[in-house]
Formats: sequence, C-alpha cells, structure tokens
Amino acid sequence: MVRMVSVLLSLLLLLSPAVPQETQDGRYSLTYIYTGLSKPIEDVPAFQALGLLNDLQFFSYNSRDRKSQPVGLWRQVEGMEDWEQDSQLQKAREDIFMETLNNIMEYYNDSNGSHILQGRFGCEIENNRSSGAFWKYYYDGKDYIEFNKEIPAWVPFDPAAQNTKQKWEAEPVYVQQAKAYLEEECPATLRKYLKYSKNILDRQDPPSVVVTSYQAPGGKKKLKCLAYDFYPGKIDMHWTRAGEVQEPELQGNVLHDRNGTYQSWVVVAVPPQDTAPYSCHVQHSSLAQPLVVPWEAR
Ligand SMILES: *[C@@H]1O[C@H](CO)[C@@H](O)[C@H](O)[C@H]1NC(C)=O
Ligand SMILES: *[C@@H]1O[C@H](CO)[C@@H](O)[C@H](O)[C@H]1NC(C)=O
Ligand SMILES: *[C@@H]1O[C@H](CO)[C@@H](O)[C@H](O)[C@H]1NC(C)=O
Repeated sequence: MVRMVSVLLSLLLLLSPAVPQETQDGRYSLTYIYTGLSKPIEDVPAFQALGLLNDLQFFSYNSRDRKSQPVGLWRQVEGMEDWEQDSQLQKAREDIFMETLNNIMEYYNDSNGSHILQGRFGCEIENNRSSGAFWKYYYDGKDYIEFNKEIPAWVPFDPAAQNTKQKWEAEPVYVQQAKAYLEEECPATLRKYLKYSKNILDRQDPPSVVVTSYQAPGGKKKLKCLAYDFYPGKIDMHWTRAGEVQEPELQGNVLHDRNGTYQSWVVVAVPPQDTAPYSCHVQHSSLAQPLVVPWEAR
C-alpha cells in the first residue's frame, strides 16, 4: 500500500507542472488537469481539478469541498469567474471523469484495484489567434485516449479505450461538441480570463540575487548563487572562475504558487586553496543587462 501511495503521488507530481514553460510575447495558454483516484489515499481527495494560465495555477476544485476556488495571485482578482457556477460545472465533470475511471477498471475486471486517471485539456492563443489545443487522458500514467480535432475523433491507445471511444462517439454531435470546445469555447474562456490576468502573466519581476558559501562533507567549499522573487520563470544563471564559465554541480528552479514567482539556484565546488575570483552571472528578461555578483572570499 505504501508503495502504491508513493507511485500515485509521484504520478501526481509528474503531471502537475504546466506544459507551457513560460510566458512569451503574445502567447497564452489555458490548461486544465484532472486527477481521479479509485481509492482516496491519505489526504488526497478522490478527484481533483486544477487550472493553469500559462505556468500559473489560478483555480482548484476537489471532490471533498466541491468548490471551485481561485488560488495564488488570483485570490485577489475580482469578477473573472462566477466560482459558484464553476463549482457546478466541475462537479458535473467530476461525475463523468469518475465514471470513466470505473468503466476502465470494470473492463479490466479490477473494480477493487488502486488506479489513477488523469486528463489534461486546454488551448493556446498567440497574438489573439488560436494556435493549439489538446485533450488527452492517462491511465496509471500511460497514454489512454486522445482527441484529434482534425479528424475529428478520439484516438485510443489502450484496449479499454476502444470502449471509451465508442461511448464518447455514440452520437456524432459529441465529437462536434468536443471539437467546438477546443476551437471555440476554450479560446473564448482564455480571452475572457486574460482580461483579468494579463497584468499577472505579463509581469517582469526582476530577481534578487544572493551568493553564499558552505562547507560540504569532505571539506570541499561550495558556492551557491540563489535568485528569487522573479517572473517569468526563464532565467540564465552560471558561475565564472577568473572569467571562465564553470560547470555547475547542482542547479534547480522552483515555482512558488502562492506569490507566482520563481526561485533558481546554481552551485559550484571550489577546490581547496583556490584564490581565483568567482562571480555569479544572472540574465533575465526583466534586466536591461546581466547581473554579476562577485563572491567575496573571506
Ligand atoms: C473480464 O472477465 C470476463 C468474464 O469473466 C472475461 O470475459 C473478460 O475477458 C475479462 N476481461 C479482461 C480484460 O481480462
Ligand atoms: C472487492 O472487494 C469486496 C469487499 O472487500 C469483496 O467482497 C469482493 O469480492 C472484491 N471483488 C473482487 C473482484 O476482488
Ligand atoms: C481577439 O479575437 C477575438 C475573437 O476573434 C475578438 O473578438 C477580439 O476583438 C480580438 N481582440 C483583439 C485585441 O484583437
């Protein structure tokens, strides 16, 4: 059971980051991610929905509270959505989603198993024109079925998905509705949301940068350069030694959903007795020129 839990949680984490990596000029995306568990585990509700604008989560819903709620910077946004009405919509989608999960498990004669279904769908606009859409499901982390809006049809990747396809295509109008959702309704929702969200998504928050050193096991000295509170998330950071770019030992980048900013770091190891000058270089779209922070050896 413990192993299953960790597998499920790692799947949740795996699929959580947004597809679009960062804001680009005039390019925006709306992504919904739905997750259903056949058996609720610990604190994780059986069904969760979340929505992202570009890389930032703006709402969440789950089967326990049954309430759509704005999250992160969108807590402060007024009038973008009627959250009461959206709760009804998410509840209806939850029912269909969980029924699909049950149908798959029945198909596999495993109505008692621990399984996970995920769905991601959404759309993109670039310079106010539709530039992409996607709608795909994953069962236990593997491709299950995907909507191809050009055919238009559901494309199954799994034996059980043949049944799902039959159900979802039982009436020709279902397929047309799915296509219309991706090509019309979703971009219209995205445009509506952008009226309230452009200032959040187009933000240019410059990084604050600090440089620290620490003693690693084995007596090696490490230099860590940390940039924080910046947005968008794309950043270039590296260390130089006497002007030469150094291979990092470690680097990372995380998003803080609460305030919608990123943190990023890069670490190098300094050989003992090395007295050469080290500097951290940071380049970000908010900066007119790269920041260079020298390491002052003490
Ligand atoms: C499920 O059980 C039924 C009846 O026993 C059987 O016909 C079918 O092949 C089974 N399905 C799978 C996927 O094993
Ligand atoms: C599922 O679980 C119930 C209750 O634990 C049990 O009665 C039933 O036989 C199980 N069914 C299968 C197919 O394992
Ligand atoms: C963007 O496109 C929509 C739908 O085609 C249109 O109604 C709207 O006026 C456009 N906005 C701008 C700023 O061009």
